[in-house]
Amino acid sequence: MTAKAEPAWWQSGIVYQIYPRSFQDANNDGIGDLAGIIARLDYLVWLGVDALWLSPVYPSPMVDFGYDVSNYVDIDPIFGSLDDFTRLIDAAHGRGLKVIMDFVPNHTSEAHPWFMDSRSCRTSAKRDWYIWRDAGPGGGPPNNWLSEFGGSAWTYDEATGQYYYHAYLPQQPDLNWRNPDVRAAMQEVLHFWFKRGVDGFRIDTVHHLYEVTTFVDNPPNPDFKPGMAPTLALDRRNQYDQPELHTTLAGFRRIADSYGERVLIGEIYLPLERIVTYYGADLMGVHLPFNFHLIGAPWKAKILADLITRYEALLPPGAWPNWVLGNHDRARIASRIGPEAARAATMLLLTLRGTPTLYYGDEIGMTDVAIPPEKVQDPWELRVPGFGFGRDPVRTPMAWTGEPHGGFSLCAPWLPLHDTRALNVADQQTRPDSMLTLTRALIALRREEPALNRGSYGLIAARGDVLVYERRHGARAVMVLLNLAAAPVYTPIDGAGALLLSTHPGDAHERVGALVCLRPHEGIIVEISREA
Ligand code: NOJ
Repeated sequence: MTAKAEPAWWQSGIVYQIYPRSFQDANNDGIGDLAGIIARLDYLVWLGVDALWLSPVYPSPMVDFGYDVSNYVDIDPIFGSLDDFTRLIDAAHGRGLKVIMDFVPNHTSEAHPWFMDSRSCRTSAKRDWYIWRDAGPGGGPPNNWLSEFGGSAWTYDEATGQYYYHAYLPQQPDLNWRNPDVRAAMQEVLHFWFKRGVDGFRIDTVHHLYEVTTFVDNPPNPDFKPGMAPTLALDRRNQYDQPELHTTLAGFRRIADSYGERVLIGEIYLPLERIVTYYGADLMGVHLPFNFHLIGAPWKAKILADLITRYEALLPPGAWPNWVLGNHDRARIASRIGPEAARAATMLLLTLRGTPTLYYGDEIGMTDVAIPPEKVQDPWELRVPGFGFGRDPVRTPMAWTGEPHGGFSLCAPWLPLHDTRALNVADQQTRPDSMLTLTRALIALRREEPALNRGSYGLIAARGDVLVYERRHGARAVMVLLNLAAAPVYTPIDGAGALLLSTHPGDAHERVGALVCLRPHEGIIVEISREA
């Protein structure tokens, strides 16, 4: 029998997402920066994660807070300089941490020189680098496509008398990926950063790279109901998930592989059946197509069990799974299901098979922060107000201490913080019952248990409010039992050995025959005894 290859770092490891504006402000302008991240690397080592993914730090007018890039090969002065970035890479690597950048290939900023050239005249050499169309037959936009962030996906350019396409904001024109010069220019961007030592990329909105060539209208969204945001009125099928993108991703993959063990993570908001196609033919697409399905899932044992089983079954042979509980675009887990339930959710994230991505602040149980209307910054909320799209509440600064501004900055930050006296890193580091202590213990257990960081997954049961599964590697196996309810529950625990970890450490668990009593919202990890 041949020995099984060791998993790659991006398989056995844990990714930690940093939203750079909100992690640590070293120069006290109220916005986080690279020097701040460097100053907090020891914390990440202490926490035990393996890689940090930075949301974009490139030069940008910041209309979409960095997802509108005006130069792909530099650092925005708000965050520092290229030298600071090199310092970050060196400091991270010196501590055994990997660094993953955000790559935003679908669109540039309108301030990118490519777009300025493209819009300068119809005969510009860069005209075809973006998607320009004449007005529709009756005048107005070329078709009915909507922007993800509200309104038409087309903006009229007075000077040249045509419309340009933008899946997101008008300030984020879509690149034309069918143009080979665009593909070549963007591949150069990957080389630029790989040569500077980055360990991988999270690729923004990859499903949007191509649109149908016919530009036909989108059909109505059959699930649209009165009261829903008007942006959801149509089914966007013609605007994404086109076959050509897989060739493009395979090209990115060849570049990544040419630098050794690097990772590509694709951001894809699609049904699971579609997400798994982004592993690519012969697994030559992205290494990890982000699986966001825990984010929207109702917190019910049976639903979660079915989701996990379905995802595991859909994975192509050899594909490595991944799970995400939160990110900079969606409500925080502690707000979605409550701070107590978030403890079991973190146990779920860190005990499932596949790479977990942990969103900064979730390890201390940060909740969404209410933003007063006059402080709203997110363009999505500003364009489509009142439907809960606003992302400011989940992007608030990290609370390191209970001091004013939470040790994030000495001056008022770009977004308000929660009451940091109640929730901060320094306090939670000292408390054995804190969310941070739990998260760190889960990470440490995952790291030392091959059953958890590389073993197989098997559903044991979804009984009422309790989800039970096992993870197994060779002779070693552990069982995870999660009580998703706010009430105590008695559940069978056949074959269980020693308790390895509980979300709610305390007195020994009450046992009645073969039943164990789980506390409200409690999750436990137990060994499966060898005889079982
Ligand atoms: C997805 C990113 O996560 C989000 O923050 C951004 O606004 C859009 N893509 C557009 O780049």
